Amino acid sequence: MALLPIIVAPDSRLNVKCEDVNKVTDEHRRLMDDMLETMYDAPGIGLAAPQVGVTERIIVVDISSTKGDNSFYKMINPKIIWHSDQLVDYEEGCLSLPEQYAQVQRPGEIHLSYVDHDGVVQNLKTSGILATCIQHEIDHLDGRLFVDHISKLRRDLIIRKLKKYKAAL
Ligand code: NI
Repeated sequence: MALLPIIVAPDSRLNVKCEDVNKVTDEHRRLMDDMLETMYDAPGIGLAAPQVGVTERIIVVDISSTKGDNSFYKMINPKIIWHSDQLVDYEEGCLSLPEQYAQVQRPGEIHLSYVDHDGVVQNLKTSGILATCIQHEIDHLDGRLFVDHISKLRRDLIIRKLKKYKAAL
């Protein structure tokens, strides 16, 4: 296991549309273990492959914030197949936008399919913070950040703060 450096916005590597994984390999399994370790260490509740510089459709999620209780998800090629019309608001943050938060509106309930670490297709129906988190991570795979869901004014403000943050690193 290894901690991976997390890319901080603004960075063009976070605006890339990621590729589907055709075959799950040991390399993918190692990557997902490292992504989970990196996410827990940060700490965060979700991480997408492009945030660690990999342009494949892979995410990890654990909303329990309790490491080691098997409540994590490792998802390859996650795909939303249904979402509710009803929207919910959550204050979102992102490990690629440190210390920045904003209210984002998304469907409250989703059904999705994904491929697990054994290469088996799984289905999940979920709502609440897990649904929000998964949608946020899938956005990353399409090169979108949570700030792309808010007003340009607020987005520009956050990006300015992040530029300052990166300049001070
Ligand atoms: Ni994020």
